[in-house]
Amino acid sequence: MKGVILAGGLGTRLAPLTSITNKHLLPVYDRPMIEYPLSTLTDAGIREVLIVCGREHAGHFVQHLGSGKDRGLDISYAVQERDNAGIADALSYAERFADGNPIAVILGDNIFEDDFSRPIQAFAREGKGAHIFLKKVPYAKRFGVARLQRGKIVAIVEKPKRPPSPLAVTGLYLYASDVFAKIRTLSPSKRGELEITDVQNLYIAEGALGHSKVRGFWSDAGTFESLHHSSSWARKRKAA
Ligand code: DAU
Repeated sequence: MKGVILAGGLGTRLAPLTSITNKHLLPVYDRPMIEYPLSTLTDAGIREVLIVCGREHAGHFVQHLGSGKDRGLDISYAVQERDNAGIADALSYAERFADGNPIAVILGDNIFEDDFSRPIQAFAREGKGAHIFLKKVPYAKRFGVARLQRGKIVAIVEKPKRPPSPLAVTGLYLYASDVFAKIRTLSPSKRGELEITDVQNLYIAEGALGHSKVRGFWSDAGTFESLHHSSSWARKRKAA
């Protein structure tokens, strides 16, 4: 399966660090942030990766990762024309890359410990609907949150004031090739973004959204707190 890393957006929550370089190239302990989602994809056997980034500091990605040849990877790049137009908008730039095949999509600021080889390979064989990964967290209102009934997801709510469960939707998504047609039907949310949560809700309406739980460490790294939390975890892991 091919993989997509979404690394657009302006990273305003990490200003002024993000005036110097792209958020996804800031250090998470001893590696640039993007190395973590890249490893999540490559550890699952993915070799072809598209990085979607904004215009600002775009050259820094190429400087760091190049074509991927030295790692046995094929890395290509796409530019999201409008910064902060949303995660689903960023994903729309991957349509030609996906070329009618299922894809694994990961947010460039998501740090996972788990190995996702099994679900990713199983999804590649089936190639239908969508699959998301949930993690129980103590502060779910910062995220997309799953509402479940009898073990089935009935809705995802983006950044709810009162979370319907403690289960956050993490930033790893597996999609069939019909995801691009779904994105074309979306309208911008109140915050002016094409929301990835709206995409999951379209799959729920079709009874086509699967899910699994994340067992190991998971965090985003898009705020000073979560960046520090991720760096501390990476440091401990290295020392273990
Ligand atoms: O981290 C998981 C959460 O990520 C999910 O639980 C939420 O449902 C999802 O909406 C998202 O929430 P955030 O508000 O934390 O997303 P953020 O705007 O920080 O964007 C996360 C990454 O997505 C960012 O590092 C790069 C990519 N992105 C984001 C936007 C807005 C783009 O590539 N382009 C964009 O326009």
